[in-house]
Amino acid sequence: MQLFKGLEELRGWRKQQTQSIALVPTMGNLHEGHLKLVDLAKRYADKVVVSIFVNPMQFGKNEDLDSYPRTLDADCQALAERGAAAVFAPQVSDIYPRGLDVQTVIEVPQISDILCGASRPGHFRGVATIVAKLFNMVQPNFAVFGEKDYQQLQVIRLMVKDLSLPVDIISAPTERAQDGLALSSRNGYLSASERACAPQLYAILQQLQAQLQRAGVDVAKLLAEAAQQLTAAGFKMDYLELRRQSDLQPAEANDQDLVLLVAAYLGTTRLIDNLTFSRHA
Ligand code: PAF
Repeated sequence: MQLFKGLEELRGWRKQQTQSIALVPTMGNLHEGHLKLVDLAKRYADKVVVSIFVNPMQFGKNEDLDSYPRTLDADCQALAERGAAAVFAPQVSDIYPRGLDVQTVIEVPQISDILCGASRPGHFRGVATIVAKLFNMVQPNFAVFGEKDYQQLQVIRLMVKDLSLPVDIISAPTERAQDGLALSSRNGYLSASERACAPQLYAILQQLQAQLQRAGVDVAKLLAEAAQQLTAAGFKMDYLELRRQSDLQPAEANDQDLVLLVAAYLGTTRLIDNLTFSRHA
């Protein structure tokens, strides 16, 4: 497996490639969820490139940019074992040569300032901008993203559509611990008691989805009750919403493909999860 720390080296390698390429963009500190993205990428393309870059543009001022775990050696070892062809681990100066404040940015309207975007202003501008740049640098045929970050996935799908980017977006199901907690690099921040409480996030989403499948239910009341249950379990709620899948706008009566999205804090750790389902007319 090759490791490229500079853009020129990556571009030199990319020019020589004649086979199809799938990109798995990550911020490192890889867990089994990321490695499953690599497995899926290998089913689509001849070679898999994994980018590892903790992107400062998508972190808010009071977020965990400085403390975000950086584990490049262990990540490369795991990726080599999993059969990645190359890792691209650039420096901030390679990605933002003029500095963050004067960088051209990509805004995906409507979807970027709701839900997580409302609580994390500018976050999806940072995600869309880095993903577009990585697409230009790696020039993949495919790119694989986890459904765990559902809003991110839909922001990227819309960006690709709006800008006619020649990349097929593949989504991978959320990888979960045995007790149902979605795998996330940020789970490492949870204390033992918070970790014990965390699986309730998904358990309550599952219970809510079963209730929502019944005809004639009061959606707002069920959402409020589920949020209250999470609060009683020790979460501090950010949001719990039922949205349509395509653009994450509020679900209307005739929308069939729906998604429940939740964000809530345990202590200082912000957890997100979601559950997609179809409602039949
Ligand atoms: O999901 C992530 O790890 C990041 O948001 C991504 C897609 C690598 C962009 O920095």
